[in-house]
Amino acid sequence: MASVPSVWSLALALLLLVIAYARGFRRRPAHPPGPKPLPIIGNLLDVPKSKGHVVFKEWEKQYDSKLLYASVLGQSVLVINSLEDATELLEKRASTTSDRPWLPLMDLVGATRNTLLKRYGDSWRFHRRILHQNLRKGVLEHYRPILMQKSHILLHRLAQDPAEFLTHFKIYSSSLLMGVVYGCDMEAPDEWNLPTSYFEWAEKVIRDVSKIGLLPIIRQAPSWLLGGSQSYTADLRRRVLKLRDQPFDLAKEKAMLDDERLDMVSRVLRNKVEGPESSEEPLRDVSMSAWVAGVETTASALGSFILALCLCPDVQEKAQDEISRVVGSDRLPTLEDRPSLPYLEAIYREVLRWKPPAPQAVPHSTVQDDMYKGYFIPSGTIIIPNVWAMMRDEESYPEPEAFRPERYLKPDGTLDARQSDRVLAYGFGRRACPGKDLASESFWLGIAHILASFDIAKAKDKEGMDIPLTLEYFDDEAVVRPKPFPCSITARRSIDTLTFAG
Ligand code: HEM
Repeated sequence: MASVPSVWSLALALLLLVIAYARGFRRRPAHPPGPKPLPIIGNLLDVPKSKGHVVFKEWEKQYDSKLLYASVLGQSVLVINSLEDATELLEKRASTTSDRPWLPLMDLVGATRNTLLKRYGDSWRFHRRILHQNLRKGVLEHYRPILMQKSHILLHRLAQDPAEFLTHFKIYSSSLLMGVVYGCDMEAPDEWNLPTSYFEWAEKVIRDVSKIGLLPIIRQAPSWLLGGSQSYTADLRRRVLKLRDQPFDLAKEKAMLDDERLDMVSRVLRNKVEGPESSEEPLRDVSMSAWVAGVETTASALGSFILALCLCPDVQEKAQDEISRVVGSDRLPTLEDRPSLPYLEAIYREVLRWKPPAPQAVPHSTVQDDMYKGYFIPSGTIIIPNVWAMMRDEESYPEPEAFRPERYLKPDGTLDARQSDRVLAYGFGRRACPGKDLASESFWLGIAHILASFDIAKAKDKEGMDIPLTLEYFDDEAVVRPKPFPCSITARRSIDTLTFAG
């Protein structure tokens, strides 16, 4: 039996512990509002597995805050639904909010070689330098012939097999990026010796990688917890490395034979980029990153553009009128025409507002404890910039669900300078999309060429009635994309009669 003094000491110790805990609890600054966590698992059951951007927007109403907090198995998660908070936290405080979450499983399959998932540090900076030097505005002019060629091929594919428009968009964005990054002409497969099924194979690799990163809990799980699937992860790693090395090795061979090539790989191999890493490895990684990050996003935007035209015939009519007025009907618009086509510019911006391809951008992560608006944000917090919610702010974008390019225009039809030309769909601060100028050019060109060449409308059933659209998206991955939908795409004139000449 315990002696009386020891019972007292135990009780006293317990009391002190409770007091210390309560005081500590009281003193700990508050987190932003959010769902009530359960013991140990926290908000594991509240965190959505798909349509996170929509659920987080609902949280905004539920908890009366645009800054929201959740904790999943001890991992802090901060959701930002307003541009003001995104600017303050991700841009003004970029030195502490530009990291990416630690993703051991992604590490295991080699996916953290991708610039997109790289931790903040020298190696990531070196990646960004390569991307900046090769994808900045002044350099893009060199790639314009590739963009024009690929867009022309897209028009032919749409004319021949309109029902497969979503597949054509993927081939368009993939093949133009293969051209820009590796100098690889996918339309000349023999020359490149890549199988014709390469894109499908590559797409499957990218999809398999993004599947293992779906749930924050799995993303954070150490690899030994997933030991049962070791052979799967080893196989995926092999495929990721093949995805990275196969086009790079071919591009390197070509670069050795011709020192005038303009693609990114040839340019970097010729003019070494100063940096902490001298080997070829970072260039291999960064080239894969540009390709992987650009394919789905641009294709998704083009799919949403077709959806918007089906829903808004008046938008199509105004855009086609503008093209006829400014460019005429004998040639296709070029990027040089872009400043003279404000309505098309407004369509470009409105698609990326209405259906941002990456509605939650890519999570950032913090590297030190911080206080913001009186709230405590611990070091290592995952920050989710909910761009979808930011671009549904009713004050800036009245009736946000409506597709309305006019929001960017003055009554006289010119672009409204009060509307910032910044496109939030490209993300924030130091991690903002380094391919945004290329994306902007290739997406705009796709829009302009399709409008000049085709009439888009809802498909009709046997009775000649419009088939209603459901607006459904594949939305359980970082990049969302429209599910296949019926639509009518008819050529306005023979594609071959249209030229690029000014
Ligand atoms: C419409 C097309 C595109 C959209 C909407 C888009 C959007 C984004 C977003 C939201 C991010 C994350 C930003 C952040 O963390 O705050 C990102 C990062 C990135 N994007 Fe894009 N992107 C597009 C096209 C492209 C293209 C064409 C390329 C390459 C040529 C590219 C390369 C990258 C890379 C390498 C990153 C990682 C940057 C980093 O983590 O430092 N993207 N993009």
